[in-house]
Amino acid sequence: MRAVVTIAILVGAGLLGTGSAGAASGPPRKPLAAYGYHLYGEYCLSCHGANAAGRMNQTSTSSGSGPGREQKQQNGIGPSLQGVGALAADFYLRTGYMPLRHIGMQPRREPVFLSNHQIRALVAYIASFGGPPIPKPQPQTGDVSKGLELFTEHCAGCHQVVAQGGVVTGALPPALVNATPRQVAEAVRIGPYVMPKFSQRDLTDRQLDSIVRYVEFTKNPSRPGGWGLGYLGPVPEGLVTWFIAIPALIVLCLLLGRRLRS
Ligand code: HEC
Ligand code: HEC
Repeated sequence: MRAVVTIAILVGAGLLGTGSAGAASGPPRKPLAAYGYHLYGEYCLSCHGANAAGRMNQTSTSSGSGPGREQKQQNGIGPSLQGVGALAADFYLRTGYMPLRHIGMQPRREPVFLSNHQIRALVAYIASFGGPPIPKPQPQTGDVSKGLELFTEHCAGCHQVVAQGGVVTGALPPALVNATPRQVAEAVRIGPYVMPKFSQRDLTDRQLDSIVRYVEFTKNPSRPGGWGLGYLGPVPEGLVTWFIAIPALIVLCLLLGRRLRS
């Protein structure tokens, strides 16, 4: 009997003590991270679990293929946030992707209701479990045409070549008009939801700068004449032919016919 109790205590202690190196349960000592700990309890704990260790659930499914997601859970409520770092926390909070409104939905851009200070606090708390810092892209040193080339190769299949968004199985890759340079750099390194993650080996920081520069360029492209047809190419241009050019031709024929008859 005593053995059973001892084991129960050990297991209990083990559960409480889950977490990565040095990440103790309870509020961190630094005031900003400590404030983040309280906000975490209010907004994130229900899905991401105590100590940001993630929460499993046998019945609900949560998709995602990002860093902390693959190994930890196939059937989870929220993935572990240990090791995702300030980088992912900053991205998911400033885009309004988190807190997720309900389990099972694709994170989407939502109005951010947390204040800047609250976001910094949550980021500090999550960063206390380790992981990469917030990146500092330098798009001004990038090259637009190089960026177009890289974007076409790695991103356009989902986001469409001028970054207007698209469709893939099970998810909607968003248009990138609202993504700041920092968020583009973050998204590339994280691979949110079904988006693949690009490591330094896939894309160097220099190449990433060119991609960021290109994405900035797509937000305000110089228009080489003609109408802005949503920059989509063949389909709308074809539609213009059908709706404007052909009726114009018909009218012209009618007018000519009347002329010839009279
Ligand atoms: C397999 C399809 C796929 C590929 C390839 C892909 N993405 Fe994504 N991307 C997505 C999806 C889906 C989302 C939405 C993620 C979510 O909802 O959590 C997304 C989100 C983003 C966002 C956040 C946009 C926002 O405002 O919400 C950025 C920025 C981004 N991608 C940039 C890129 C760049 C740059 C590349 C190429 C290096 C790339 N993506 C490659 C599918 C893809
Ligand atoms: C309703 C459940 C839910 C709530 C509430 C929630 N999350 Fe999430 N979170 C998820 C799911 C599901 C994912 C995986 C999404 C994906 O694949 O992109 C996720 C992903 C994340 C990620 C990215 C993890 C990675 O592997 O890159 C971060 C960071 C994050 N959440 C932070 C937060 C924070 C901070 C809060 C509280 C303000 C919060 N979440 C609230 C369900 C939730």
